[in-house]
Amino acid sequence: MDGTEFYRKVILTVSGNKLVKWLSIKYGRKLAGRFIAGNTLDEALDEIERLNAKGILVTLDHLGEGITTLDEAAEYREEYLKLVEGIAQRGVQSNVSLKPTQMGMALDLEKAYENIKSVVKKAKEFRNFVRLDMEDSPYTQATIDMTLRLHKEGLPNVGTVMQAYLFRTEEDVRSLMEAGVNLRLVKGAYKEPGTIAFQQKREVIDNYKKLIKMHFDQGAYTAIATHDDNIIDWVKVFAEQSRIEKEDFEFQMLYGLRMNDQAALAEDGYRIRCYMPYGTMWYPYFTRRLAEKPANLMMVLKNMFK
Ligand code: FDA
Repeated sequence: MDGTEFYRKVILTVSGNKLVKWLSIKYGRKLAGRFIAGNTLDEALDEIERLNAKGILVTLDHLGEGITTLDEAAEYREEYLKLVEGIAQRGVQSNVSLKPTQMGMALDLEKAYENIKSVVKKAKEFRNFVRLDMEDSPYTQATIDMTLRLHKEGLPNVGTVMQAYLFRTEEDVRSLMEAGVNLRLVKGAYKEPGTIAFQQKREVIDNYKKLIKMHFDQGAYTAIATHDDNIIDWVKVFAEQSRIEKEDFEFQMLYGLRMNDQAALAEDGYRIRCYMPYGTMWYPYFTRRLAEKPANLMMVLKNMFK
């Protein structure tokens, strides 16, 4: 395990600790603010307008995951229906990202399916697109199944996410591409065991590039969601050498990270989409960002003393 992997595991483990959680919730909202566009939909829509003006597209996410009752799932579904309408009414360039567990996937698969379906149907009315974020491995198969089921039921405006750290992903990408599903490719943000996931950074990057190449070779549209210049620069060169047009793929980055570079990509004519979370359930999202990069933790610590 290299130093970065060790750091990631420590943060993901420590963030589950009750005391750390309590301290973070008590003092951390301001610190997390950098990664979150606001508490309300209106605040988020204002922020989308600001980014769109710089040529940056958005995917909007209402924070929330790991819910414990189906009533909560129903509340989140309603928030998402408002979000889809809000995007259309403001006329901003944003699609939608949601976490299946926020819609009840861990509690009742069929109810979660109905909740998600109503959001995807609403999005279809407005010609918009919904991405099912990929959570940890207990939900991988269910998320894939749900995406394919929605496609079969006449809702092709839904896609999902493939994590390069999982051994199974190459096979999943193959079958989802065959079914015409729009995919976002990421490294993977959760703590997964060595029995099912690559543990070395190098292996994850190699697999990531392999998955991107599979998309390009098939002429399939793909979203490459990373802040890693190693991958971004490789994609730019590969696309140019293979005469792949800039509109045939998009880069994605998270809100609050590399914002100047996001604008620069847009200026260079690349499609770049910013994943923008809003809402009050920020703790798990925030700790995953800290785990990804010591520099993110340093940034937060510096802000603490400002
Ligand atoms: P990583 O953190 O591995 O850093 C690699 C290198 O990138 C660094 O060494 C540095 O050179 C450069 N870099 C990184 N951050 C930088 C910064 N702020 N400034 C300058 N350079 C920087 N995961 C998941 O499991 N399910 C999902 O659904 C999603 N969805 C998702 C959407 C979007 C839009 C993004 C960007 C990411 C996700 N992820 C995700 C998270 C993803 O799996 C992964 O954990 C993070 O993107 C971190 O990996 P990176 O490749 O971005 O860089």
